[in-house]
Amino acid sequence: MGLKVGIIGCGSITRYRHAPEYEANPHVEEIVFYDRNVERAKSLAQLFDGSFVETAEELFSDPTIDVISDCSSNEAHHINTTKALLSGKHVLCEKPLAISVKQAEAILEAERKSGKKLMLDHNQRFTKAHQKAKEMIASKEFGEVLTFKTTFGHQGPESWGVTKSKATWFFKKDRSHSGVAGDLGIHKIDLIHFLLDDEIEEVHAFHGALDKVDENGMPIEVCDNVVCALKTKEGRLGTASFSWTYYGVEDNSTIIYCQKGILKIYHHPDAQLIVEMKDGSVVKYELEQMQTNDNQTSTGVIDAFIDCIVHDTEPPVTGKDALASLRVIEKILGNG
Ligand SMILES: NC(=O)c1ccc[n+]([C@@H]2O[C@H](COP(=O)([O-])OP(=O)(O)OC[C@H]3O[C@@H](n4cnc5c(N)ncnc54)[C@H](O)[C@@H]3O)[C@@H](O)[C@H]2O)c1
Repeated sequence: MGLKVGIIGCGSITRYRHAPEYEANPHVEEIVFYDRNVERAKSLAQLFDGSFVETAEELFSDPTIDVISDCSSNEAHHINTTKALLSGKHVLCEKPLAISVKQAEAILEAERKSGKKLMLDHNQRFTKAHQKAKEMIASKEFGEVLTFKTTFGHQGPESWGVTKSKATWFFKKDRSHSGVAGDLGIHKIDLIHFLLDDEIEEVHAFHGALDKVDENGMPIEVCDNVVCALKTKEGRLGTASFSWTYYGVEDNSTIIYCQKGILKIYHHPDAQLIVEMKDGSVVKYELEQMQTNDNQTSTGVIDAFIDCIVHDTEPPVTGKDALASLRVIEKILGNG
């Protein structure tokens, strides 16, 4: 099956993850790049031996394009992803699905109408340690999950995004909408839903712009830190913190406390998954290192997306999953 892929948005996530992973996938024949900054599209077309177009419409109206990755900034997802679906393309949309639950619901409606596949890039589900932990939790070998603690924090997106500037859209209310909550937090909310096969229902949270400043030296319009207490539908209790101001090594750790032991994931440099049992025994699983902004290895997301198209199966991260996580983010920000 030779697939032709269109990518909307030629910033960092396209350069470091989507484009190289499509290029490496044996089912993908060609990549067509589009960015409203045409120089960025040209440059990636050159780098990944693809082509570029100057308008999004050219991607939507091209019947030879089967698949679209929506890697535009958050405020544009509901426009690009909706149009792509309704043009008959399968879509891999970057997270968050949209900047409001209402927009996200409209995307899901477009998905239903189109009969095409919609997948979200919640890449945390695909790491080896998270997959192993999911397997262990599902097998109930440690009994039920009682509580959890999850964190995602790094130095912030101004050194990651293509502009490498404090003027980044990540700091703008009308474009990012949810700051660190929708950038890093939503990954961990989705991860908890995935690991526990449960859904967060109640939230108590604090959020603030504690340190980041924009290009004018003013505090940013969105939160750079969130701390929250969470309760799931099944009654599990947890805490979570998300930060753009961890000015050292990234923290991407999750701890799951079960009736018969503890699973520590990306918590210690020695091993990606450490299991501590009630009887004192400890098992260390050395699995793959996690991808970070400084360590870009394959996420497996593109392969999983192409696989669900080739085999006509349900995407491993659905629009419904993404909507559930977005609802939690809205509650964290007090909009839910
Ligand atoms: N899954 C992950 O781990 C992960 C990591 C980083 C970013 N992201 C997501 O990926 C998306 C892009 O982030 P990024 O880091 O690449 O940002 P970036 O600032 O590096 O690049 C964004 C690019 O999109 C282009 N763009 C924005 N709106 C557009 C539109 N309407 N039409 C055409 N081009 C448009 C910009 O010109 C820019 O080149 C965001 O939604 C972000 O949340 C996901």
